[in-house]
Amino acid sequence: MDFGNIKAKHFPKKFIWGVATSAYQTEGGRHLGGKKDSIWDTFTNSSKFRNGNGNKATDFYHKYEKDIKLIKELNLGSFRFSISWSRIFPEGIGVPNQSGVDFYHKIIDCCLDNDIEPWITLYHWDLPQTLQNLGGWTNREILNWFGHYAEFCSKEFGSKVKKWFVLNEPMSFVGLGYFMGIHAPGKTGLSNFLSAAHHATLCQAEGGRILRKNIPNGQIGTTFSCSVVKPKNIWRRHVKAAKRLDALLNRFFIEPALGLGYPTDVIPGLKRIEKYFRPGDEEKMKFDFDFIGIQYYFRIVAQYSLLPPILFANQIPAKERNVKINNMGMEIYPKGLMKMLKKFNQYDGIKEIYISESGVCFDESITDGIVNDKNRIRYFKKTFKICRKAIKRGINLKGYFIWTLVDNFEWADGFKPRFGIVYNDFATQKRTIKKSGYWIREFLKK
Ligand code: NOJ
Repeated sequence: MDFGNIKAKHFPKKFIWGVATSAYQTEGGRHLGGKKDSIWDTFTNSSKFRNGNGNKATDFYHKYEKDIKLIKELNLGSFRFSISWSRIFPEGIGVPNQSGVDFYHKIIDCCLDNDIEPWITLYHWDLPQTLQNLGGWTNREILNWFGHYAEFCSKEFGSKVKKWFVLNEPMSFVGLGYFMGIHAPGKTGLSNFLSAAHHATLCQAEGGRILRKNIPNGQIGTTFSCSVVKPKNIWRRHVKAAKRLDALLNRFFIEPALGLGYPTDVIPGLKRIEKYFRPGDEEKMKFDFDFIGIQYYFRIVAQYSLLPPILFANQIPAKERNVKINNMGMEIYPKGLMKMLKKFNQYDGIKEIYISESGVCFDESITDGIVNDKNRIRYFKKTFKICRKAIKRGINLKGYFIWTLVDNFEWADGFKPRFGIVYNDFATQKRTIKKSGYWIREFLKK
């Protein structure tokens, strides 16, 4: 097999190679073991939603042992997964559900038995529906609800799991779920967005404090989505549009954690978020994370629009730009990973960086038991080379988590985008390792 000139041995010995998944996209078991609905159960099971649902997803609820063995078989050493809040607290708060707690103990133990390090994400978008009924992220009470959940999980699992992420991509769940209405809980409007965003910023930091307090020798991080943003051309108004998009997509959640506040310098309208501030919030938004995770998928080309920067009118769709696209219509631009690494590395106060997700999706099928996903292999080769270069240039990059292990439920896009290095037949839940999976296995072979 051709590896170009990239090999795992060119990386520092302790470099982490892992895969990432999330609860809603994989577990299924919607009502099993006492779990109640999250906002994603409600959203995808409503008659308005037409792209399937995660009621069964990839049946990780029953297949976790097999999947964890697959991780080992592919020579990957770390597994990043999330906890479903409503499996632990079906009502969001109150008494924990023992069967849900046991489920995560079983996953963790199975990882440890197989020499795989478990990395937990506390929140990967599946808020308990009961809490959404009270306003969800727009209600400041979420600080108490999330705090209660973080306290419990860190005390329960913290002796076995040392690596934690507080939130997964806050801009995605706040922007898509509380402004654009295309993700759960399907809310729109500026006041929903601003209040949810501010409360997520506070929970990001508060969650970090709780985890640090309860987990001896724990390493606490959180993740940020990011995109390369290029202006349509050098016209001033397009350049300014690109700056606004960059502020929104790349700076919004990391800067308050670092004590820099929200990026109101380029989006003055964002000052309206201060309406949701209480005395002391500037301090409370800060947390000194041990590491950050960046999640990189695509490049955006910005163009001037009168509409708020978050709306698609500010972007030129990739399919109109004659570039390579994935099957979600986004530009595939592996080179951009270097730009993102440099961008996040330049902040004072960033200690370690992980690529906590990166990957690519296509429309794929299986022929004679083989999924020949050459383009995914190409993507990994390119991004791995960039990682090696970044380390040589002095960026403290510590690991790479592939998104994802097994093809899964891709939120609003349903089952069509396949991101896995393992193919899933959703009718039978049969897993088949793709060529990229075998490539990874060879690449990581000791
Ligand atoms: C980021 C999200 O964290 C993950 O849930 C999603 O599947 C991937 N992006 C791909 O879109």
